[in-house]
Amino acid sequence: MRALVTGAAGFIGSHLCYRLLTEGYEVVGFDDFSEGSEENLASAPEAMIVEGDLRDAELLTRAAQGCHVIFHQAGIRSVPKSIEFPRLTTDVNVIGMLNVLLVAREEKAIVVSASSSSVYGDQEELPLHEEMHPKPRSPYAASKLALEIYGQAWWRGFGVRTVSLRYFNVYGPRQNPSSQYAVVVPRFIMACLTGERPEIHGDGDQARDFTYIDDVVEGNILAARAGDRTWGRVLNIGGGRTATSVNRLLSLTSELTGASVEPIHTPPRAGDVRFTQANVARAEALIGYVPKVAIEEGLRRTIEWIRQSPSG
Ligand SMILES: NC(=O)c1ccc[n+]([C@@H]2O[C@H](COP(=O)([O-])OP(=O)(O)OC[C@H]3O[C@@H](n4cnc5c(N)ncnc54)[C@H](O)[C@@H]3O)[C@@H](O)[C@H]2O)c1
Repeated sequence: MRALVTGAAGFIGSHLCYRLLTEGYEVVGFDDFSEGSEENLASAPEAMIVEGDLRDAELLTRAAQGCHVIFHQAGIRSVPKSIEFPRLTTDVNVIGMLNVLLVAREEKAIVVSASSSSVYGDQEELPLHEEMHPKPRSPYAASKLALEIYGQAWWRGFGVRTVSLRYFNVYGPRQNPSSQYAVVVPRFIMACLTGERPEIHGDGDQARDFTYIDDVVEGNILAARAGDRTWGRVLNIGGGRTATSVNRLLSLTSELTGASVEPIHTPPRAGDVRFTQANVARAEALIGYVPKVAIEEGLRRTIEWIRQSPSG
């Protein structure tokens, strides 16, 4: 089996490349290295890497030749960045998905694409389930909803086997702590390790269903092996236990690192939703997805990795 991984040099894509190689797949990675790095790919030296932009349909078509499955992870992945650059976000996330679908149709390949819990926006009830009406509240969330709808249209219209996975706050080793758009887990760990005061947007009671990287990778592998009942669907890929507030995340991180830090509270950020918590029953029923790594254990592993990495 040959797999194309877009966003291969990024956080999730690089873990996926490694896992696919251990499963015996031949792996082609595609990335423009705008966020990803060679360093991330060190654990997947057997992967063939094509450097290029998703919006370059010709190059993507060449990279996808002979692939049975495309794991589409590349994209602009930050809500604040999408507010700053809405046109770029839409271009990369939506036209990028269109290009992936066009080559998948040609190659008769399965497409497992990365969507996001942000498509739910603020809902009246928790946990969030796939029957809820999406209420995106940022260009990023809107682009991910469009990606899902394109996937559904290609299944209904052309029989391209697609499934979109709504990831819930993925964290783990290799997530970039120094990016301008770094997310909360590596930011808190770095603050605790360096003694800097961590920034909390708003009161810190906003909560997230943090999902450990290994569970997300497993979700992708299972989705690629799904059957006809799954194509054209969206599935929640979350931690599936309880949501963790940002305040609790900081106190857990402080405990595990032995640090004592006082946060700085800044105004809430535009586009952020208040609570996310996944109901993963559909993913369990259709693909056998059961998240395994609890937040305490996942944080411990991530702290260990940041401590050992050259920039940690
Ligand atoms: N990390 C999370 O918590 C999370 C949550 C929900 C959804 N997602 C989605 O999962 C996917 C992977 O996220 P990640 O956390 O690994 O992010 P990441 O930024 O580490 O990886 C994305 C990769 O895509 C590449 N890329 C960006 N634009 C490109 C383009 N035009 N052409 C080719 N490559 C391009 C980047 O260089 C990077 O390597 C993204 O689509 C993101 O929106 C992530």
